[in-house]
Amino acid sequence: MTAYLDHAATTPLRPEALDAMLPFLIEHYGNPSGAHAVSRRAKQAIEEARDVVAEGLGCRPSEVVFTSGGTEADNLAVFGADAATVACTDVEHHAVLHSVQARGGRVVPYAEIGSVEADLVSVMLANNETGVVHDLPDVRGLLHTDAVAAFPWLDVAALAQRAHFISISAHKFGGPKGVGALVARRPLTPIIHGGGQEADRRSGTHNVAGIVGLAAAMRITVEQRAANVERVTRLRDRLADGLLAAVPGAAETGERNNKTAGNCHVRFPGIEAEALLVLLDEAGVCASAGSACASGAMEPSHVLAAMGISRDEALAAVRFSLGATTTDADVDLALKVVPDAVARLRDST
Ligand SMILES: Cc1ncc(COP(=O)(O)O)c(C=O)c1O
Repeated sequence: MTAYLDHAATTPLRPEALDAMLPFLIEHYGNPSGAHAVSRRAKQAIEEARDVVAEGLGCRPSEVVFTSGGTEADNLAVFGADAATVACTDVEHHAVLHSVQARGGRVVPYAEIGSVEADLVSVMLANNETGVVHDLPDVRGLLHTDAVAAFPWLDVAALAQRAHFISISAHKFGGPKGVGALVARRPLTPIIHGGGQEADRRSGTHNVAGIVGLAAAMRITVEQRAANVERVTRLRDRLADGLLAAVPGAAETGERNNKTAGNCHVRFPGIEAEALLVLLDEAGVCASAGSACASGAMEPSHVLAAMGISRDEALAAVRFSLGATTTDADVDLALKVVPDAVARLRDST
């Protein structure tokens, strides 16, 4: 058995998303930018998907810009918004952080972001590593929120109502990889130039099946969100409590009542997370150290550093992330395997 506890990295495709996508990979293969019947069928699917996304994110359909994922949505907001100066918090995903840095913008602690003078401020709704949920600040200029990690768990439509720009990514909530969206309530200058798709905000032939899959996954995520949050919170609490009880010195990151339901982030002082992940992988438990893109590199996470966690402790941190398909059996396996693996590593040093 494999206990897949890395849903924050990516989630399995929901069967409803696959079913919705297949016709657009087979019989409805048209380019939605054309005018004939085959194209019109594809175009209709895109517009139906746009309506679903608008409802899921609390915006108008015309404000939805389909992108190649969360990274592009973040880049489009930071580079495409009408803003001479930009700023973000120091716990943002690299897609925002590196974009803001590339624009010469300011990176500040979350506590200071509300008072920064910038035309565009970017604050993530929930952190992808720790699950910590942020209140969005009152800002004078434009507000962007990266809601990629929040969407599976939080009512983004309500919480991000004041944001002018909202990023999401399908593969974090049961949709396919390589497709996402940016809500743009203000004008955007494109960063990808070409045929003028998406009302001239994002050129490139639409990923029709991907967009249809995103919408199908979104619909079901929103429908089942409350029940899923309740069920997964129970599983997460059992996992976190079990690990804290079984591993001496283990510490949890973030206040549990201010975290997304699926996040269990634990530091195991005295070991290296990378070594632990190898043992866990051998025993069938898939988890990750820091964010997926940072895994493999021995640099501690910038998110944990920003929280004041020491380098050694940050390198001992493991993120177990649960999702819609997580079961009690997954938690049982992790609780059986992790304490022993930590003890083995501690004995060997
Ligand atoms: C908070 C956050 N923003 C952006 C991204 C990037 O999204 P994508 O993988 O669709 O490019 C991720 C994915 O790890 C994320 O967790």
